[in-house]
Amino acid sequence: MHNILNEKKNGFRAVLLAGLLSILGVTGMALAEDVHSLRGAPELDVVPKAEPMKKIHRDQETIARDYVLQPPLIPHQIRGYRIDKNSNKCLSCHSWKNYKQTGATKISITHFETRDSKQLADVSPLRYFCTQCHVTQADAKPLIKNRFKSVETLNNE
Ligand code: HEC
Ligand code: HEC
Repeated sequence: MHNILNEKKNGFRAVLLAGLLSILGVTGMALAEDVHSLRGAPELDVVPKAEPMKKIHRDQETIARDYVLQPPLIPHQIRGYRIDKNSNKCLSCHSWKNYKQTGATKISITHFETRDSKQLADVSPLRYFCTQCHVTQADAKPLIKNRFKSVETLNNE
């Protein structure tokens, strides 16, 4: 008696699960049809022409930040600036040791902290690969129209 009841329960569960899965499958397919790449729908057998490289702004004044804790944008070109295990070109100007001679902003004190909140005497491995967070700027059309506005307190317009 006990066993039969259990079997019935299990059978019911299996039917319920199958039902759920098919609903998920159908919505999944519907979603997939609505998804488009920002570049449209490229043909797989056609190699699209590469877009011309965007011109990176040459050296300019620092760029206003849009929100608190934003990694400041890089206001100069960085072509050929190596960052690898042996050397970091950015630090040759931005380190606390060199910034005075080069006139670059010194790296932030936050860049000395490890993920366990230990203060190091030099830049933390967490912050070593500068371009992970800091990026250059080009005059490019936004990929998607948006109404982004900077944080009021930082807005100096
Ligand atoms: C040859 C020296 C030099 C090198 C190398 C260099 N920078 Fe700079 N950088 C500067 C100077 C000078 C400024 C300040 C420009 C100003 O104040 O007008 C600056 C500004 C910046 C700023 C803006 C700071 C702010 O407060 O808005 C960032 C971010 C930055 N650099 C990141 C980098 C990164 C990342 C690299 C490496 C990929 C790098 N820089 C390599 C000289 C350098
Ligand atoms: C994990 C992200 C991250 C990495 C990696 C990183 N930064 Fe930053 N950086 C930030 C953020 C966020 C800020 C702004 C808040 C702050 O000061 O911590 C900042 C601020 C700065 C500033 C402005 C300091 C000031 O006083 O206004 C400079 C210059 C800078 N970073 C240079 C660098 C350089 C050079 C490297 C590589 C050695 C680097 N950063 C790596 C996120 C990062």
